[in-house]
Amino acid sequence: MSRTPPRRYWLTGASSGIGAALAESILATGAHLAVSSRQVAALKVLSQRYPGQVLVVPGDLTNSQTVREIGEQIAEDWGSLDTVILNAGTCEYVDARQFDSSIVEHVVRTNLLASAYCIEAALPLLRKGTAPHLVGMASSVTYLPLPRAEAYGASKAGLRYLFESLRIDLADEGIEVTVISPGFVETPLTARNDFPMPLSWPVDKAARHIFAKLKDRPLEIAFPALFMAALWPLSKLPTGLQLAIGKRMVRKPPPQRDPV
Ligand SMILES: NC(=O)c1ccc[n+]([C@@H]2O[C@H](COP(=O)([O-])OP(=O)(O)OC[C@H]3O[C@@H](n4cnc5c(N)ncnc54)[C@H](OP(=O)(O)O)[C@@H]3O)[C@@H](O)[C@H]2O)c1
Repeated sequence: MSRTPPRRYWLTGASSGIGAALAESILATGAHLAVSSRQVAALKVLSQRYPGQVLVVPGDLTNSQTVREIGEQIAEDWGSLDTVILNAGTCEYVDARQFDSSIVEHVVRTNLLASAYCIEAALPLLRKGTAPHLVGMASSVTYLPLPRAEAYGASKAGLRYLFESLRIDLADEGIEVTVISPGFVETPLTARNDFPMPLSWPVDKAARHIFAKLKDRPLEIAFPALFMAALWPLSKLPTGLQLAIGKRMVRKPPPQRDPV
């Protein structure tokens, strides 16, 4: 009797946070998983814990040649991919008083351009896969302009458009596209945040939620529900009202004290 072959995934940003937790959920099903990030140690630990299931394809995804080589490596080892989850990303905040375009450049390069490189590498492999599924990690930040989020928000808004447009163009080929929009999830990335994170979720809970939802291939996975219920109506407000809300969130710089 022939057995269904294990599903083949490629997950970026698997060394930390949501990606690392998602890798556990995927591997627990017996699926095969190609993992990418710059730090190799965490990926190697995964491959030791799940022998025969993990393909370690590390590298800096902002380098298009590196991503091309990762694609070639996966093609050589597996020949195809069934699900690709482009989760790798970063966040840096902007100080508008000293606007630094290099922050925008770095964040857009990591969150948007690297995803485009990965899509270029992934599509030929997905076309040879079974019930192919392409998944992008956006953010709830795209629902509302927030202070200091110029770089991060722009990168994720761009990513959202990239995936939603691609969804239309890939529909005929049967490649389904899902966009994930988390609220706050407790990871090393958000541990750096110096502001309260309402309704934040532990990373394992978030990963289990994402993985369970992915099975139904929704257009969007937005969570936590309560957070979205508050955010969604705000995203529909006229721009002037959104500006008023955003201004209330701006933190004033500490008052300058005269030296004593
Ligand atoms: N946490 C949240 O509240 C939240 C909310 C909305 C959206 N998100 C999104 O979720 C994704 C994961 O975030 P996280 O919170 O889990 O952050 P994290 O713990 O910092 O993980 C980020 C992952 O991306 C990888 N990465 C970053 N730059 C890379 C590069 N140039 N090349 C290859 N890999 C790179 C990192 O690995 P290396 O450092 O080893 O390269 C790491 O594995 C991001 O896209 C983030 O924007 C997070």
